[in-house]
Amino acid sequence: MPNNGTTFEFVSGARAGAGGHVLIVPLASKPKPPMQLLSQVDAHCDDAVSELVDVGALGQDVGHLSHTTRSGVYRRIVVVNLGESKKLSAHQIRKAAACAAKWLINEKIKQATLWIDGLFSHDVERPVSEWAGGMTLAGFRFTEHKEPDKDELVKVRIKVASDDKAYIITKMPKIREAVTLAEAINYARRIAHQPANVINPTTLAAEARRLARLHKLKCTVLDYAQLKRLGMGGLIAVGRGAEHKPCLIRLEYKGAPRVRPNTVLVGKAITFDTGGYSIKPGAGLESMKFDKCGGATVLGIMKAVATLKLRCNIVGLIAAAENAISHEAYKPGDILKMASGKTVEVISTDAEGRLILADALWYAQKQCKPTALIDFATLTGGVVIALGKVAAGLMSNDDTLSAELGESGRRTYERLWRLPLWDEYRDLIKGQDSDIRNTGNKRFAHPIVGGMFLKEFVSDNVPWAHIDIAGPATDENDKEATGFGVRLIVDYLQRRLP
Ligand code: BES
Ligand code: MG
Ligand code: ZN
Repeated sequence: MPNNGTTFEFVSGARAGAGGHVLIVPLASKPKPPMQLLSQVDAHCDDAVSELVDVGALGQDVGHLSHTTRSGVYRRIVVVNLGESKKLSAHQIRKAAACAAKWLINEKIKQATLWIDGLFSHDVERPVSEWAGGMTLAGFRFTEHKEPDKDELVKVRIKVASDDKAYIITKMPKIREAVTLAEAINYARRIAHQPANVINPTTLAAEARRLARLHKLKCTVLDYAQLKRLGMGGLIAVGRGAEHKPCLIRLEYKGAPRVRPNTVLVGKAITFDTGGYSIKPGAGLESMKFDKCGGATVLGIMKAVATLKLRCNIVGLIAAAENAISHEAYKPGDILKMASGKTVEVISTDAEGRLILADALWYAQKQCKPTALIDFATLTGGVVIALGKVAAGLMSNDDTLSAELGESGRRTYERLWRLPLWDEYRDLIKGQDSDIRNTGNKRFAHPIVGGMFLKEFVSDNVPWAHIDIAGPATDENDKEATGFGVRLIVDYLQRRLP
């Protein structure tokens, strides 16, 4: 895999004695760190940490970082603010870790010792793991299409140090697991970042096959001809206008062959969304390469579960198509016959995600025996209006699944907010010349209309959740993919392991 940014390798440093390089000391700033904690680390660096804390070097904000060059055995001592100790969360630790990582990268420091004793709090299960994951995520930069930077820092080695030597030795495997998870998230981000002239439905399928080979997953790709045979009128119509025709990618991981639960994940992978004939305005259109984030998330989850060897069974389905304009493209007014047999009038060719997902959801139920069915999609601009970048919209036919996902959302800080799928909303997609239509004719409740549309293709007795990630899949400026959903589902799966 091409190099994208900086990787962090965590090794057991046991006691901090070695010296020679940089000592990083994360500390909560409020209340002032206890004397005992400071004196332990001070012993290795001539009281430099206390002195930094005394002059207010921790500052006010999470991630604020200050350093001094005076030391005992270290060349530089860095303190990083974790914020208020009472509010300390996994997210806060990852944020502070990201600041430390960026600083190391900037300063081109290849080796550092991390003093972990200030990271602990009652509310965070695995603070050192969170820190390690946070650094790894912060190391990602999408540089593979750029002239290589000769000075770029490829790898940083972090020695994990504590006064409790035994702790480090026992926790190293968990810390490495956190790095593995973060690397799977970075993989999803990398796929999401590829431009549409690199990733199209065909090359995305090739990437899925590569991932499958690497991790011994089963991979099948239903090509255009097979989609036609299965009558997938939605996926075919949306992808028809592009040079690279649509496909349905299926990845399987069997970590618990004799166990029944079978989670089926479905991802929207529109490799570029022009809007079709209901064309999108030009400003910011380049960000529509990120319309495959749902699919990238599914790839990232498959990579994570396979590397972590979770004892569960998962099928990942990715509906891949490019929503293009050409003489072959579908048009507003077209009436499509979907794989389920329902007919849909296309009101907007820009409401394409639901059309490809409807066929993929039908396939999931027919072919994969889901005990839980979860789809990820950058489905609507409306969900970004409603929830911003802070949360994804959750719509579901099942309160238990919904609560479990919501709980994983709180734990991982990949937060979900449930929106209703009440019967009254169905009026908005009632068809005139068809069974249903793909959008409402009023600008009402866009994310819910998307959810109601998908619900038409899901049986009431299959627990199903639709997660509209259009907001949090990318950063504030729609310039960077976040890999949202990977951490969430890995947590959801881990909590339900036999
Ligand atoms: N991919 C877009 C949704 C989107 C918008 C994602 C902005 C990320 C940022 C989706 O295909 C779309 O165009 N949805 C339409 C639906 C409408 C026509 C009912 C939308 O949200 O405007
Ligand atoms: Mg669209
Ligand atoms: Zn789209």
